[in-house]
Amino acid sequence: MWGAATAAYQIEGAATEGGRTPSIWDTFSATPGKVLHGDTGAVAADHYHRVVEDVAIMRELGLSAYRFSVSWPRVRPAGSGPVNPTGMAFYERLVDDLLASQIRPVLTLYHWDLPQELEDAGGWTNRDTAYRFAEYASLVADRLGDRVGVWATLNEPWCSAMLGHGSGEHAPGRTDPVAALTATHHLLLAHGLGVQALRASRLAADAQVGFVINPTTVRPASAAADDVDAARRIDGLMNRIWLDPVLRGQYPADVQADTSHLTGWDFVRDGDLDTIARPIDLLGVNYYQPMLVGAGEPPGPVPVGSPDAVPAPSAWPGSEHVRFLQPPGPLTDMGWSVDPTGLRELLSRIHRDYGDVPLVITENGAAYPDEPNPAGQVHDPERVEYLRGHLAAAHEALREGVDLRGYFVWSLLDNFEWAWGYSKRFGIVHVDYATQRRTLKDSARWYRDVIAGGGVPV
Ligand code: NOJ
Repeated sequence: MWGAATAAYQIEGAATEGGRTPSIWDTFSATPGKVLHGDTGAVAADHYHRVVEDVAIMRELGLSAYRFSVSWPRVRPAGSGPVNPTGMAFYERLVDDLLASQIRPVLTLYHWDLPQELEDAGGWTNRDTAYRFAEYASLVADRLGDRVGVWATLNEPWCSAMLGHGSGEHAPGRTDPVAALTATHHLLLAHGLGVQALRASRLAADAQVGFVINPTTVRPASAAADDVDAARRIDGLMNRIWLDPVLRGQYPADVQADTSHLTGWDFVRDGDLDTIARPIDLLGVNYYQPMLVGAGEPPGPVPVGSPDAVPAPSAWPGSEHVRFLQPPGPLTDMGWSVDPTGLRELLSRIHRDYGDVPLVITENGAAYPDEPNPAGQVHDPERVEYLRGHLAAAHEALREGVDLRGYFVWSLLDNFEWAWGYSKRFGIVHVDYATQRRTLKDSARWYRDVIAGGGVPV
């Protein structure tokens, strides 16, 4: 699969149309000080009204797959109760248009827009939310199961749990390490129950069901024992806390030990890990940059909009004595380092440690401050280099024997970059938010040629 990815809240807009109810991101972004410049997803890239034009762009690029997410509060307002036919019809039309364009729909059920009513009942700290998620998964599968071949339950649950409940940088904005770990477990449970619900519904015989995380290569600042231990802790909280339960049916013992002063993990009930470890067909890997960590006292919390992109220390429960260092290499507009070797190592490591689960790079890309020149062109040579380097790294991983099934650029369009609002542009297609005009950047044309040629020269 050669694709591009988006997410509902980041592109759709139409936040109050067609029976949609508020999600936690509507509430959070409307709260002063949470999102840079007070930006919200109320209009975003107006994709809800421009879906025909956007699918035409995908056709022009020759994408063979498109990864999008369904907005839970659009199709099942308030999180429970009946389906909203108007909301569902939007995704049915999108899927039909993709199929008519020979583009495989890759559907993510949860990309962070929890219905606010479920948050009011405790959100991801409430075990019930996992059951509501499984019901929602069944309802979407009832309507789209015959046409969508690739399904993902959750996108980057680390962000929902740790940024949403630990550091408070993401909705719902809580700052409680125990809530972050409780949410982690309930998100994993939602994934497992969601897999069960999808398998029990009327999916096509060859449908594939997966899980999308943001694991990364974590490097110690030196070979000193305390730096190596800091890297172990962050690897546990970033990578193994998701990979071990889903692919091995157990939580990493060291992560449980590192957090035992915070919680006894009594939110884990008998049988949960069996549910969480239901077999999956694909593991989605979102990769942007490696991490470099050492022992020491972390800096204070990072204010939204500061150029320091390392998540606040409270995003890492049980790792109070870890500090994050800037990895070497050029930086993107997020302040993230460009290092494709981290991707190759990551794919090989997952393959080595977790066996033959087929992998998909479900997101990879970079933000740069692109604007059209007077002639209306958008030159983004750094993004082309970023993508070229990471595709070459993916190819290396394939040569090393990794079962890699696809690659998705983040993102098709410039969009609402969460706490950074519209200030960061990840698209290969530029969006002028004043007019909603779309302009292909050089990277989009380059990617079109890569797809047409079946890869990059290595
Ligand atoms: C991960 C997320 O899934 C996506 O929503 C976000 O925009 C990109 N990474 C870039 O930060």
